[in-house]
Amino acid sequence: MSAAEPLVLGIETSCDETGVGIVRGTTLLANVIASSMDEHARYGGVVPEIAARAHLEALTPALTAALAEANVSLQDLDAIAVTSGPGLSGALMVGVAAAKALALSLGKPLYAVNHLVGHVGADVLSGEDVEYPTIALLVSGGHTSLLLVRDLVSDVELLGETIDDAAGEAFDKVARLLGLPYPGGPQIDRVAAAGDPAAIRFPRGLSQPKDMDKHRYDFSFSGLKTAVARWVERARDAGEEVPIADVAASFREAVTDVLLTKAVAACNERGVPRLLLGGGVVANARVREVAAERCAAAGIELRIPPLSLCTDNGAMIAALGAQLIASGHAPSDLSFGADSTLPVTVIQA
Ligand code: KG4
Ligand code: ZN
Repeated sequence: MSAAEPLVLGIETSCDETGVGIVRGTTLLANVIASSMDEHARYGGVVPEIAARAHLEALTPALTAALAEANVSLQDLDAIAVTSGPGLSGALMVGVAAAKALALSLGKPLYAVNHLVGHVGADVLSGEDVEYPTIALLVSGGHTSLLLVRDLVSDVELLGETIDDAAGEAFDKVARLLGLPYPGGPQIDRVAAAGDPAAIRFPRGLSQPKDMDKHRYDFSFSGLKTAVARWVERARDAGEEVPIADVAASFREAVTDVLLTKAVAACNERGVPRLLLGGGVVANARVREVAAERCAAAGIELRIPPLSLCTDNGAMIAALGAQLIASGHAPSDLSFGADSTLPVTVIQA
């Protein structure tokens, strides 16, 4: 194989997306995603057991589709990469077991990689030269993490993360209390477009001077969610019609403000003139707008992969695997297992 341009299959099953991607070095060849989101809709959030079962059903068809899309065979592959954590245990186990079975039966090297670092790895598929260090803000239904990436394959530091709900989870919960369907992020985004973001001043979690010592780069969205619930409850009790658009816009503004205030502060304070966004919440129109404004004002280069590479996918896992190979890392020992709490500093298990 060519160490610089290895043909790598990536498998991602950490949450509700079954992702199978194929890359050659930094070139994207296939990115097949099957989501079990619809099956979780009536519960208002991802149900781990349902997600794991859905991965079992979706994995083989996704693999077949990815090989066809890339026009390669399993024998052509140089290596396989799989998300071994963090994520939902049962869901992770499906991908890990499948990847081990493939690696063993085909005699291919296997790379067990970190899901969060995979989100950062998606950027190498942009077709442009990617520079480090970079700050990465990863926001989805499962995570809200701020990372300092000095080197994609060897040096990632967790600056902060949510201490309660993930940002996407907050969108989903607030949507629910406004009577909007799951997943709530796109719904709130749509409704908020017609609202006034300054109508209600909702709290910005962990943004007070007293929070700066311990939680400078951490996030908290549960207080915000409660504040929205109280506000809506008070209006309903008073017999007022709830101004859904204003509530949605004001809530969206609060989340966006905290996310970008902390991310830009991390860039400035760590002297890193680059910010990479990842995760499903990056689809949010206001998040994108404010990110662009504030990065431009601060002289920070903003990088946002295409949405299909921002949400959970196998191509980013393959891309990270390819980078590990290109920099000479040995394959993972097959004794690794799914690790739901794999720390971000462990790039390869
Ligand atoms: O990365 P992702 O597809 O998957 C996981 O979290 O596993 O992210 C999904 C999350 C959901 O919470 C969804 O509500 C949120 O991303 N989301 C959004 C938007 N689109 C998706 N949140 C805010 N605004 C959006 N436009
Ligand atoms: Zn993710």
